[in-house]
Amino acid sequence: FGKNIHYYDEAGSSNDIAKKLAPTAEEGTIVVVEQQTGGRGRLGRQWASPKGGIWFSTILKPRIALSAASRLTLTFGLSVTKALREFGFDAKIKWPNDVLVNGKKVCGILTEVDAEIDTVEFVVIGIGINANMSLKDIPEELRENSTTLRDEGGKSIDRVEFLQKLLFEMEQEYIRFSTRPFSEIMEEIITLSDTIGREVTVNMPNRIAEGTVVGISKTGALLLKRTDGEIEEIIAGRCIYTKK
Ligand code: BTN
Repeated sequence: FGKNIHYYDEAGSSNDIAKKLAPTAEEGTIVVVEQQTGGRGRLGRQWASPKGGIWFSTILKPRIALSAASRLTLTFGLSVTKALREFGFDAKIKWPNDVLVNGKKVCGILTEVDAEIDTVEFVVIGIGINANMSLKDIPEELRENSTTLRDEGGKSIDRVEFLQKLLFEMEQEYIRFSTRPFSEIMEEIITLSDTIGREVTVNMPNRIAEGTVVGISKTGALLLKRTDGEIEEIIAGRCIYTKK
C-alpha cells in the first residue's frame, strides 16, 4: 500500500478523488489530503478535517461480494488500532468502525463501494484520524465524544512515520483478509473491542434496538441481548453507548 501516493494540500474529500481515480488506479493507491474542505462522515454527516489530521483514502479491488464489504471496514479498523498501540496509545475498536483512545473517538472510517450487480469493482476506504490538532479545531456540533492524539498524548506525533506504519499494517491485514478465513481477523478484533459488555442503543435504518452487547459474531455482526431477553444479531447500524 502507498506505492502510488496522490497528495493534495487542500481538496474537498479524499474519498471523492479516490473514487474518480479508482477505475484506472492500481490497487493500494492512496490519496492524502492535508486539509479537506468537504470531509464526509458516515450517514451523510460532515467530518471536520483541519490541518494536522491524517485524512486519506485507499483504493482496493478485492474479489468479494457486495455484502462482504463491511468486513473490510472492520479489518482496517483493526489496522488503525494496532498502529496506534504501537505508538503507545490505549486504542480500542468501537463496533462497527470507530477507533477510540482512552474511550474517546480519534478515528472514523468511511467505506464506499462501486459494484456492478453483486460484484465489487472497487472499494474506497477513507480513514480520518484526529492527530496533531486539538478538540478546539473541531466545530462543537461535530465533536460528540471525540478526542485527538495530541490531546491524549500531550504532544504531536510524526505523521509520516505513523502513516508508514499504518499502511504496513493495512497491507498485512489485507493479505490476511484475502487468504485466511475472516474469523481469524474477527478473533483479534474481539480482543481489542471496546463495545462488548456495553449497554447500547443501536440505530438502524428502520428501527432502534436497546440492550447489552454480549459479543461480536465471527462474521462481524453485533450480538445484542435485548431488554426483552432475546439475543439479536445486528449486521449494520450506529451504536451509541447509553452509559459511560
Ligand atoms: C465517520 O466516522 O463518520 C467516518 C469519517 C471518515 C473520515 C475520512 S477522512 C478521509 C476520508 N475522506 C472523507 O471525506 N471522509 C473520510
